[in-house]
Amino acid sequence: MPLRSLGELPIASARVLVRLDLNVPLREGAVADDSRIRAVLPTLEALLNAGALPIVLSHLGRPKGQVRPEYSLAPVAQRLAVLLDRPVLFVPDCIGEAVSAALQRAQPGKEVVVLENVRFYPGEEANDKEFAAQLRHGAQVYINDAFGVLHRAHASVAAIADLFEWKGIGLLVERELAVLERLRSAPERPYVAVIGGAKVSDKLDLLSALLERCDALLLGGAMAFTFLRAQGHAIGSSVYEPELEPAAQAILQRAQALGKQLLLPNDVLIAANGDTRVCTVEEGIPEGWIGYDIGPATERRFAELLHTARTIFWNGPMGKYEEERFRSGTAAVAHAVARATQRGAFTVVGGGDSIAALQALGADTAVSHCSTGGGATLAYLAGKPLPGLRALEQS
Ligand code: 3PG
Repeated sequence: MPLRSLGELPIASARVLVRLDLNVPLREGAVADDSRIRAVLPTLEALLNAGALPIVLSHLGRPKGQVRPEYSLAPVAQRLAVLLDRPVLFVPDCIGEAVSAALQRAQPGKEVVVLENVRFYPGEEANDKEFAAQLRHGAQVYINDAFGVLHRAHASVAAIADLFEWKGIGLLVERELAVLERLRSAPERPYVAVIGGAKVSDKLDLLSALLERCDALLLGGAMAFTFLRAQGHAIGSSVYEPELEPAAQAILQRAQALGKQLLLPNDVLIAANGDTRVCTVEEGIPEGWIGYDIGPATERRFAELLHTARTIFWNGPMGKYEEERFRSGTAAVAHAVARATQRGAFTVVGGGDSIAALQALGADTAVSHCSTGGGATLAYLAGKPLPGLRALEQS
């Protein structure tokens, strides 16, 4: 179904409701990482240049339908004003009188209005139609540029779109979809996917979908222990998901049937009582020891495969990345992906931890694309329908 893009919408001098994903990390009341704010500047600039009045809707965190000041979008609005170099009018509510009054004095084409966190109301996550109607604020056009939240059937993402004849995607969503579509339909080969993180359960559909499309799948992070156990290896006291062993087994068998490479760690950095050491998967992790990172031999194997890739998708850390002593595996993957990009590979990184690892190495600009979506990216690549896009389809 066709989606309208910004250029196909009557935005000139219009009141435009724009859903953004300004769900950014805050530290001591200030924005700690403004990547998601920077990513939506082109859409806001295009609207202002067309003389429109952008009215921004967003969520921040998970306040569960209650007003929680620590999840206020006020610091985000402040940062947006600096980055945009234009006035930003912040309204401490997203519905009601306060918004109407602010919209009356706002100047189209000159300033952006940012409304308070939509998740302060339970109607948002309930996809409530009445709440959606209250969010409309007399806008003529609705634009969704909140890539990171397209997988949520929430009022400001889904129900609201039914109220508009003129609706479409912003420039960020357009760019994100183009990148992910390239991965999904026409990746240059070899296509190597690296998936890490804690849980197989979060990524089961993704793993199955990737296996069909990529040439090699490299698995790290705590989720690898469920696979290693399914292969009969001793994993000591490492975290794993016993109920997902059959699913892991099925994925291993599918990889074999397809003749695809599915690489698991062959050595692991383990820890117990303050000690750390490297242990091979063949010898097995002793009871009482926990695996926290991939080992140096695995780092080398993964880097070798990434060296040959023409397309790479990476999501999820290789270990307990937050602790310096367990950071080496994730850093090795980050380096290998950055080097592959320099050699001309098309490289896409999704998910907060993997992007943070790249940023720590100063390598986030050294990959082809850092996706602003976590769950949305995984849902798209897993082939799941995205409610935020469905709601924008033209009949
Ligand atoms: C994200 O950070 O992935 C998006 O903002 C969605 O947030 P959520 O997982 O709280 O819905």
